[in-house]
Amino acid sequence: MLTVNTLWYVGRGSGVIDLVLLTTATVLGIVNRSGRPAAGLPRFAVAVVHRNASLLALMFLAIHVLTLLADPFARLHLEDIVLPFAASYRPLWMGLGTVALDLMLALVATSLLRHRMSVAAWRLIHWTAYAAWVFAVAHTLGTGTDNGSAWLLVTTIACIVAVAIAVGWRLSAGFSEADQLQAAPMRGGTQRPVPRP
Ligand code: HEM
Repeated sequence: MLTVNTLWYVGRGSGVIDLVLLTTATVLGIVNRSGRPAAGLPRFAVAVVHRNASLLALMFLAIHVLTLLADPFARLHLEDIVLPFAASYRPLWMGLGTVALDLMLALVATSLLRHRMSVAAWRLIHWTAYAAWVFAVAHTLGTGTDNGSAWLLVTTIACIVAVAIAVGWRLSAGFSEADQLQAAPMRGGTQRPVPRP
């Protein structure tokens, strides 16, 4: 009984940590695109923390789904983890989590293979990061046992506010071409920034 409870708690706890990591990765992705330093981190460190937060989010997602797969309560099957809306337990809300997982896998895989892809193709796929985050939030709000608790509500709202502020800034005039020039990679050791395509 202790083991089953442990799986249930670890499964849900890792889901919450995953939501926070996914939010961190999303916000830092936007900051990284601006090419600005953030929270005392220089530009290159923002990129590193963005990448590591994304990888860590995928790790916690693996813990989340594997522990909940082993736990009997949600009656999940292996295919429910990758095939959306097939679960018998809350199929809609589980399905949204599954879509988020599928998108995260595509995002991480294409980022690891970035050097083999065109910038345009990589960027197109990377836009789905926003959708992954939205699906993950909807999954949390729809299915979490703890979503009636103040602590999970506050955590979820904090995540939504953080991404809303970052997206608002991304869409604002302050997120100008000059920022993108700064963000551009250096080529051939010259110190002149190269505009992003
Ligand atoms: C990025 C993807 C995902 C994120 C961020 C995420 C996050 C969360 C969060 C925050 C909770 C609420 C925990 C609580 O109430 O304490 C939760 C619950 C849950 N998630 Fe996910 N999840 C994701 C994907 C998935 C996937 C793919 C599955 C499996 C199909 C899944 C299965 C579950 C289950 C079974 C619960 C418990 C539902 C309940 O409390 O009744 N999640 N998830």
